[in-house]
Amino acid sequence: MKILKLGLIGHPVEQSLSPWIHTRFMEQTGIDGEYKLYPIEPDVFDKKITALMQSGIDGFNITVPYKQRIIPFLDELDPDAAKIGAVNTAVRKNGKWIGYNTDGSGYVRALEQVIPPKESLHVLMLGAGGAARGIYRALVTHGFRHVDIANRTASKAEELLQLQEPETISEILTFQEVQQQLADYDVIIHTTSVGMSPNAAEQIIPLTNLKPGAVVSDIVYKPIETQLLHTAKQQGALIHHGHSMLLYQAQYAFEIWSGRQVVVGDLLNQLEQRVTEA
Ligand code: ATR
Repeated sequence: MKILKLGLIGHPVEQSLSPWIHTRFMEQTGIDGEYKLYPIEPDVFDKKITALMQSGIDGFNITVPYKQRIIPFLDELDPDAAKIGAVNTAVRKNGKWIGYNTDGSGYVRALEQVIPPKESLHVLMLGAGGAARGIYRALVTHGFRHVDIANRTASKAEELLQLQEPETISEILTFQEVQQQLADYDVIIHTTSVGMSPNAAEQIIPLTNLKPGAVVSDIVYKPIETQLLHTAKQQGALIHHGHSMLLYQAQYAFEIWSGRQVVVGDLLNQLEQRVTEA
């Protein structure tokens, strides 16, 4: 029987939790396969990626710093990945390499577990970097209509507006303005690296005046409960942890590679334990 050959390219990749996640998905589906780490130094990227793509590998994930640099090596791009301008999943289909972005859609799948998308919901996204691009695009294509953006650098937030759908309504705000109108938002999504270990005491903005029943979501998952989420919980908000995005982007990638459905289920708790112990 054919072995499904998968992997991850990036620099660095050694700490990645993806091999563990995809091994669980292979067990679930009974697929015989491998998911290997391929650390690639930036100065040999072109040579190494070409060799890897010709090696018989079926698909791979792409992480920092190569999500843009991989694009010229691919034959086709999924339209959303093309719009976002970043690829985190490549698959070989009928001899052609196709690039997808499962980060943003994976994030929205994870968010849907705590709050179903509704046009009437007011969403606030904090940050406008690479992660935010994928998430914004997925939000506006998955039933969220009002998505405001606040970023330290306003021009980067403006750039995100190119990813809108015709019905999208988005306002660009400063962090100061956001603090004054925090009570307007049903969902607050933090997409920057502020608060990530070892700077776990940092919090992007104070959280006073949250709307009762608001959801606060953080894509930072180290620590599992960031200072932002801790504060949100104290304010009575429903909190949504970042490690779920990791699982759902992997779920979507695995579906692309294998054509099979897999469930996240208890992997969420198991991953939380692994992140906490690491
Ligand atoms: P990623 O791919 O992880 O999103 P990125 O593209 O470098 O990384 O984006 C980092 C995001 O975090 C940006 O929104 C950045 O704000 P700027 O656009 O103003 O640079 C934000 N960010 C990083 N450090 C920050 C800090 N100390 N305070 C506020 N925002 C910060």
